[in-house]
Amino acid sequence: MAHITASVYTSHVPAIGAALDLGKTAEPYWQPVFAGYEPSKQWMREHTPDVVLLVYNDHATAFSLDFIPTFAIGTAASYQPADEGWGPRPVPVVQGHQALAAHIAQSVIQQDFDLTIVNKMDVDHGLTVPLSLMCGPKDPVREAWPCPVIPIAVNVVQYPVPSGARCFALGQAIRRAVESYDQPLNVHIWGTGGMSHQLQGPRAGLINREFDNRFMDLLIENPQAAARIPHIDYVREAGSEGIELVMWLIARGAMSDVARGAMSDVARGAMSDVARGATADVAAGSRPDVVHRFYHVPASNTAVGHLVLASR
Ligand code: DHB
Ligand code: FE
Repeated sequence: MAHITASVYTSHVPAIGAALDLGKTAEPYWQPVFAGYEPSKQWMREHTPDVVLLVYNDHATAFSLDFIPTFAIGTAASYQPADEGWGPRPVPVVQGHQALAAHIAQSVIQQDFDLTIVNKMDVDHGLTVPLSLMCGPKDPVREAWPCPVIPIAVNVVQYPVPSGARCFALGQAIRRAVESYDQPLNVHIWGTGGMSHQLQGPRAGLINREFDNRFMDLLIENPQAAARIPHIDYVREAGSEGIELVMWLIARGAMSDVARGAMSDVARGAMSDVARGATADVAAGSRPDVVHRFYHVPASNTAVGHLVLASR
């Protein structure tokens, strides 16, 4: 059986990728950002998983605005870094894990989540910048990322976007899918994007440290409450692009302390309110350990937030 043993959360600011690729990491502006990821890179080297499920958003790169899946899973053998207007980032090709991806698609769709199956796509900074932050710069010719990656793309660009509650429930469904895979894989799940930022309009440049830190507190200690934050609160408090934070809830929903049994919503709907309340927020274990927490402003137009949580 496969297990999800840890989750990673990080912003995906494209300028971070450019700073890495252009050798600017030691510059005074960038040094504190990269220093904040050093403990995580060390942890990643010591706890390299067999597969990473990487929840991210495409920025009208692979999907354009012609077709916009709410939730999509990559089932390809590999993914090329996308050309986002300045050429593709000079990073290794991302290797997929087709067998596990196909299994997750099967299981999650049968749990009533409509995933779009993507057999071919390029991956933009939403996916490659988190990999660079966690794994360090990699020569695209001589080096590879440390493990296969399954991209899980979420639409947070074109309205309507999915709610935090739905994202959290998707994470729970992904956990059940992974646990029904019959190979002993150690799986990590990453939630990326955020934190507060707004890229356009009169509020461009908005940063809200208080919201960001409260969100990280809630995500750790009371993720069910974080999942109830309505969409409009993200936009008001964290800016229009702050809505990317709903993707962190997919990763958090996949951790063991909030695991739910395989009961279908139909069966749950048939229960009395009292019984439903008793099973609603079943904590299957203790809260995860906070391996690392980091917050920094500014990086480009964005507050950088980062967490590593590991199951006890
Ligand atoms: C920036 C941040 C993003 O999340 C993004 O997708 C594009 C740009 C920025 O801070 O500039
Ligand atoms: Fe973004």
